[in-house]
Amino acid sequence: MKGILLAGGTGSRLHPLTKVTNKHLLPVGREPMIHHPLKKLLDAGIRDILVVTGLEHMGDVVNLLGSGSAFNCRITYRVQDEAGGIAQALGLAEGFVGQDPMLVLLGDNIFQASLADAARSFQDSGAEAQIMVMEVPDPGRYGVAEVVEGRVLGIEEKPLQPRSAWAVTGIYFYSPGVFEIIRTLKPSGRGELEITDVNNHYIRRGTLRSEVLPGWWTDAGTFESLALANQLILGESQ
Ligand code: DAU
Repeated sequence: MKGILLAGGTGSRLHPLTKVTNKHLLPVGREPMIHHPLKKLLDAGIRDILVVTGLEHMGDVVNLLGSGSAFNCRITYRVQDEAGGIAQALGLAEGFVGQDPMLVLLGDNIFQASLADAARSFQDSGAEAQIMVMEVPDPGRYGVAEVVEGRVLGIEEKPLQPRSAWAVTGIYFYSPGVFEIIRTLKPSGRGELEITDVNNHYIRRGTLRSEVLPGWWTDAGTFESLALANQLILGESQ
């Protein structure tokens, strides 16, 4: 399985912290944010990893992570010229992925659980896609899954009136057919190629499975959630 770490975007919600650096280089606990999802890929047994980030801070990201040898893995880099959305960033991974299944992590997602079991169940299931969901008190900030009897019927991106408390985390498993789907996407209202549209495509086909993510999880894309991510990670290391 290949690993893909998406670390592009503008980080606009964290201005001015992100004025001269990339969001994923900000500290979370004792390390830069991006170290945390990188370690989750390693923990899942993945050793071949693509990092996608924007042009402006690619140099700093490469300075930090290098070839991957310090992490006992191999890191490849791709530039996303503009922040055209998560699905657009993932589309850049096509040549890297080849015919392998992939685990895609958003670089600002900080969580407790190992993904080793989830990776195995995805591969054993024969599903084309797998999302990890988590019950949260503020679902309207996320993609929200409508779940009936354990089945996901649809996902809405940041709904004003969420149909459930199940947030779709930034942890996605896909088969290589995902690139065909990305090619059919149109930009959303916010001008991005949405990963939620990719997942809804698989729901319509009946080939998306979902699992509940155990332990704690947060993104770190706002001041409040960045502070929470720090608390949670520092709590872990005590
Ligand atoms: O954190 C989980 C949520 O992430 C999901 O519930 C949503 O369905 C999903 O759309 C996403 O929502 P956000 O609006 O929080 O995504 P954001 O724009 O903050 O981007 C999250 C990460 O994705 C970011 O840390 C880096 C990567 N990214 C994002 C964009 C827009 C890229 O690599 N390139 C991009 O162009």
